Amino acid sequence: MYFNIKNNVYHVGNVDWEIEHYQGFKYSTHKGSSYNAYLIQEEKNVLIDTVSESFCDVFIKNLKNKIDLQKIDYIVINHGEKDHTGALVELMSYIPDTPIYCTKNCVKSLKGQFHQEWNFVVVKSGDTLDLGNNKTLTFVEMPMLHWPDSMACYLSGDNILFSNDAFGQHYATSALFNDEVDQCELFIECLKYYANILTPYNKLVTRKIEEILSMNLEIDMICTSHGVIWRDNPTQIVELYLKWAANYKENQITILYDTMWDATRVMAEAIAKGLMQEDKEVKVKLLHLSKKDKNDVMSEVFKSKAILVGSPTVNKGVLTSLASTFELIKSLGFKEKKAAAFGSYGWSGESVKVLNEKLKESGFELVNEGLRVEWTPDLQELESCESFGREFAKSTKLKDI
Ligand code: FEO
Repeated sequence: MYFNIKNNVYHVGNVDWEIEHYQGFKYSTHKGSSYNAYLIQEEKNVLIDTVSESFCDVFIKNLKNKIDLQKIDYIVINHGEKDHTGALVELMSYIPDTPIYCTKNCVKSLKGQFHQEWNFVVVKSGDTLDLGNNKTLTFVEMPMLHWPDSMACYLSGDNILFSNDAFGQHYATSALFNDEVDQCELFIECLKYYANILTPYNKLVTRKIEEILSMNLEIDMICTSHGVIWRDNPTQIVELYLKWAANYKENQITILYDTMWDATRVMAEAIAKGLMQEDKEVKVKLLHLSKKDKNDVMSEVFKSKAILVGSPTVNKGVLTSLASTFELIKSLGFKEKKAAAFGSYGWSGESVKVLNEKLKESGFELVNEGLRVEWTPDLQELESCESFGREFAKSTKLKDI
């Protein structure tokens, strides 16, 4: 199946309704995904990106239905990751001399992954490719958004930005365009994508978007490589990216915890009660880390102005769910968020100290030294937990969100 998007531009990618995890098990895809590839047919014919290897056969078959492969003049690869290049080896077996336009880093990644000496044409920001009929592709390098090789390209005449991963979502849908899908689902997936993939590059996101905006391009559509095409108010997602890149936070406090015999869980609930007693406006969420999806947890951390983390002490450390969550939190480099730790213990009681260290090395501002309870909290200790929550709510109140 292929779909006309505008004039002589076609969607020739595939929807993956079944995928549950991406990049191994790094990213959960509860709503599936899609691999969006595009074909432009002007005086010159250009294919932009391919699809995952799992869809290679169906992709090539579909492409052959649309165009004689020998008539593809150029291939543009905006990004070398295999979800966009998995069909390249098979495709190039039919058209081995077709030039592949990509960045210098993309040549490295394609050679590194596929070990092929294809006809690479290295492009830089501002380079153009004339397609005839007054249509031109202009390339814009997007290093680290989200790989060193990433690039976008802009089709003048049709005013389409092919942004690759940027502005995308892992969201399988029968509809092509943003105005045709459930808006709630769409924006949850957009935020999850940004929080889990782009947060470490906030500054680069801001700089790159400002650079693109300064080019004063007329943008009628943003064609991403995953999920919907932005056609209705296409720059709304660009504005959202600018907002998210500015160390985004909502009036939310999230409590991340794990528990063995419920003592730390009871503490978490009493602390939550204290937060709500002190601040009627703040949104409070409790996440039992062993029962929640790690990427959904990161979306909640992304939205939070502050987090509380709790673990019982286990062999002088913390439960493994906390340890692995911190590995992810640290790698995402969240900024301007406050935090504190809590936990129960029966013997030596190091968990709060360990969590404090993890919070500090992950860039969080510690509000206090944390709260420990020996064994299971009694009524008085539960009141201490509530009081701890009230104090935390006071010290994390935001005047303006
Ligand atoms: Fe969709 Fe970075 O690959």
